[in-house]
Amino acid sequence: MMMSVTSIRCLVIVFATILKITKAQIPGIGGCPNVHVVQNFDLHRYLGLWYEVKKYPFIFTLGGKCITAEYGLNANGTVSVFNKQIRNGREETILGSARIIRSGVLGVTFSNVPFQTEANYNVLDTDYQSYAVVYSCNSFLSLVNGRIVWILTRTRFPSQAVIDKAYQVMRSNGLSTSYLASTDNTDCPDELPNGIDSFRY
Ligand SMILES: *[C@@H]1O[C@H](CO)[C@@H](O)[C@H](O)[C@H]1NC(C)=O
Repeated sequence: MMMSVTSIRCLVIVFATILKITKAQIPGIGGCPNVHVVQNFDLHRYLGLWYEVKKYPFIFTLGGKCITAEYGLNANGTVSVFNKQIRNGREETILGSARIIRSGVLGVTFSNVPFQTEANYNVLDTDYQSYAVVYSCNSFLSLVNGRIVWILTRTRFPSQAVIDKAYQVMRSNGLSTSYLASTDNTDCPDELPNGIDSFRY
């Protein structure tokens, strides 16, 4: 059964609401663990298209495949965030913006989800040309926390060496790789940089 745009919107709102409550899928006890973020983060080298290859299960993209994230610059100096996935054979996109809080740490907001809050987006490490490990953690009164990890790569099918490098980054931050799920990247459409007006690179 095909879902109408309205019902997908409703689902997105429901998921976004759940996300606001549970924050993420991998719960932990206590506050968010300390992680190391990339030093001297070079935003300009980070811009462009990234493919999601692995992540800690993240309810917002439940059931999606061929997931990409594209970063660009907005005229007002913020970072444009354009996420795309295929779900039930249809392309779904979400547009957000991010600001740099400090080196390797960004705050991301998505305009079309309710109860807007800024999600933290920590670039644990990246070589800009093959992989990035991104981490987000929210804690509730330092009692429980929820963690999300994404492994993003510049090609849809990275070599094992690239994946191993990302795993090493996770392990050195005390993040288990065993919760990772592989993103379905089979039978995806050819990906071209989006080229929406606000992208300037
Ligand atoms: C900057 O511009 C983007 C794109 O037009 C917009 O989504 C975002 O809300 C703006 N941010 C600020 C802080 O003005």
